[in-house]
Amino acid sequence: MPLDIVIGAQWGDEGKGRVVDLLADMSDLVARVNGGDNAGHTVTVGKKIYKLHLIPSGIIHANTIGVMGSGMVLNPLTLVDEIEMLRKAEVEISPERLWISDAAHLITPLHRLMDQAKESALGKAQIGTTGRGIGPAYTDKAARRGLRVGEILDSAGFDERAREHFQELGRQLVEWYGQPAKNLDDLMENFLEKAQELRPFIRRIGPLVRSSLNENKVILVEGAQGALLDIDQGTYPYVTSSFTTAGGVPNALGVGLYPARKIIGVVKAFQTRVGAGTFPTELDGDIAGHLRGTGKNPWDEFGTTTGRPRRVGWLDLVLLRYAHEVNGFTELFITKLDVLSGLDEIQVCTRYQRNGLELDSLDFSGDARSLATCEPRYESLPGWKEDLRGCRAFEDLPEAARNYIRFIEDQTQVQVKYVSVGPERTDLIMRE
Ligand code: GDP
Ligand code: IMO
Ligand code: MG
Repeated sequence: MPLDIVIGAQWGDEGKGRVVDLLADMSDLVARVNGGDNAGHTVTVGKKIYKLHLIPSGIIHANTIGVMGSGMVLNPLTLVDEIEMLRKAEVEISPERLWISDAAHLITPLHRLMDQAKESALGKAQIGTTGRGIGPAYTDKAARRGLRVGEILDSAGFDERAREHFQELGRQLVEWYGQPAKNLDDLMENFLEKAQELRPFIRRIGPLVRSSLNENKVILVEGAQGALLDIDQGTYPYVTSSFTTAGGVPNALGVGLYPARKIIGVVKAFQTRVGAGTFPTELDGDIAGHLRGTGKNPWDEFGTTTGRPRRVGWLDLVLLRYAHEVNGFTELFITKLDVLSGLDEIQVCTRYQRNGLELDSLDFSGDARSLATCEPRYESLPGWKEDLRGCRAFEDLPEAARNYIRFIEDQTQVQVKYVSVGPERTDLIMRE
């Protein structure tokens, strides 16, 4: 049953790209199933740093086929640029190696403008979206008026539907958001032209994925965002507009309730969040500066997609246990343990206090307001000073770092199979 799923266990940016890059070597198909170019997945191979937003990171390995499933929303402009970027980096992108689901939806320039207009109108109540048009594209999908990738194949019909879409959203920007009327012809022509460039890659994904599974090919799924940003299970309304958890994966691949072999929860050794919303263990001051970095290192906590400084805090095990409950992780992959080096002590949130009661699990379905009423309670663990970048075996880690990993296992009851100690492929400890 070779379906392996990589899921961000926090609010995104846990290092999923790095994890997928590692596992893609042993996979035949690598699939993105949700989200769009709000995602930013980084893979570091020697001096080369790839930043992928739409195409599955595993495509960098020549043995794989990249699949983009029906749960995604695709902006043809950024997708065509990404194809170009990869080709320049000598990654082969051909219709044999990249399959795009005809049932995925399209993001248009008007979705982007609408996302930005909605955010400005919200003022202080902003979600802090990436401004990539994600919410408006999924809104159109749910309202059954979205533009699907498969429509591109019928050029005349597609042009007509796209024209109606541009007119309708253009009108809404003027009437609902008081924007000056714009001539949208150039935006539309460019969009139509780029959309046609995707034509050779468009496929019916379901039959291909099903037959691959029947042939025992290994399918690796690269989740985007993180469990706490899921539209249903995440910290609503400060979430993205798609599923981000393991449950949505089989549907987006068209394989029914196919059982996964592994569901790998990717966990950063601390907590980060971009955008607004409750963050119980958030820090500021010196420790926040230590965790975030200054932006000098490529791995410092500044958004891969928007460059925004990420909010940082201590690891929150109550939320991690919740992420496990809603995903059913079979194992954990801890990233960025190296970043904790140099701290005298490390705090970990193990419980919340609410209305005088101590809670070690949450009786919530993600509601941000309910989370905002919780006060984190911490346990303090000893820190370590050593640089971990050279560690390759669990025994190479200082005792305090080993204790930190064991503490996470103990508190979540999920085995930590991998510990990453740097962004490079080889900066890794694999445990049996
Ligand atoms: P993703 O969205 O989950 O793929 O994560 P991002 O790529 O947005 O952010 C993770 C960042 O951390 C990237 O710059 C990675 O190269 C980097 N990274 C991943 N694992 C490690 C690690 O163990 N140590 C360090 N220092 N950086 C890491
Ligand atoms: P990866 O895949 C971190 C956040 C945004 C915002 C909220 C809604 O790299 O982990 P959206 O543009 O999706 O409507 O924004 O979700 N967000 C992410 N945060 N990593 C991501 O992707 C994210 N994708 C969306 O910051 O708070
Ligand atoms: Mg990211």
